[in-house]
Amino acid sequence: MVSPVAGLYPVAAGHHGRGINEHNFGVNAMSARTALITGGTSGIGRATALSLHERGYRVAITGQRDESVARARQELPEEILVLQANARSLTDIDRVVAEVGAEFGHLTTLFLNAGTNRPMSLDTWDEAAYDEVFDVNTKCVFYTLVKALPLLTDGGSVIVTVGIGATRSLTGNVIAAGSHAAILGMIPTLALELAPRHIRINAVSPGMTDTPMTRAGVGQAFDDVEGALAAMADSNPFGRLGRPEDVAGTVAYLASDDAAYVTGQEIVVSGGAGLAI
Ligand SMILES: NC(=O)c1ccc[n+]([C@@H]2O[C@H](COP(=O)([O-])OP(=O)(O)OC[C@H]3O[C@@H](n4cnc5c(N)ncnc54)[C@H](OP(=O)(O)O)[C@@H]3O)[C@@H](O)[C@H]2O)c1
Repeated sequence: MVSPVAGLYPVAAGHHGRGINEHNFGVNAMSARTALITGGTSGIGRATALSLHERGYRVAITGQRDESVARARQELPEEILVLQANARSLTDIDRVVAEVGAEFGHLTTLFLNAGTNRPMSLDTWDEAAYDEVFDVNTKCVFYTLVKALPLLTDGGSVIVTVGIGATRSLTGNVIAAGSHAAILGMIPTLALELAPRHIRINAVSPGMTDTPMTRAGVGQAFDDVEGALAAMADSNPFGRLGRPEDVAGTVAYLASDDAAYVTGQEIVVSGGAGLAI
């Protein structure tokens, strides 16, 4: 347990005695904003990596598959550090934290976004899929947070991607829903345990967002993917699917000093989807 007094305001290497939540950034402090994004090779994580990079953060991302990691290294700005790691592996998490520590020295933002979904009906129960979904969506989130805590500056921000499916019915989504709901259940306790260091933790919950994960899931259920996506867009109150950038903007807000007094919350980014009874 960090002392509420001793741990309140020490910040990044090179800065002394001022917390990032004191709105006292100088040029040096601004240049010290750093972010680790798990699952940053595509979709929401990739859009957030670009957004934070444009806002002046030093950014590191993780991804798992050879091809997506290679594509990220090729397509993203070269300043973005791309690390290959399996979120299911605690050894990989240790390595990522060590590499980010060596490269950045500290973290002001941790975006725990890597996730997976294995839609299936109850009669096609699959223990391996259950374990994979809970490992990536729940266990990885908890352990990456715990292992990255020594790197996080006091006053830093942790954001976790959850999803509106955690608390609403979506056929075939039961395992992913449970894995995400477990995180929502942890957030209030984590928020209060981290409060003495003024580290904030919040969840961002996308509605149906147009990403490779969504397209893969829709492709499992429908032959006409574009038609199915268009129908889903039509049923949204705003008449469109979410864009990865919609979520990235919310993450950037939660990472920023504008959200300096916001912790333990879930922000739903769904264009109004999920509000109807
Ligand atoms: N899209 C939606 O409608 C929606 C709705 C609610 C919640 N979400 C959540 O949003 C988050 C981002 O999803 P997305 O829609 O942006 O999907 P995406 O484009 O498929 O991105 C998923 C990211 O997670 C990474 N990942 C998956 N399994 C991993 C593992 N075992 N180890 C390390 N990285 C792993 C992927 O890395 P590689 O590709 O490099 O393997 C990729 O970077 C997920 O947590 C998802 O559950 C999405």
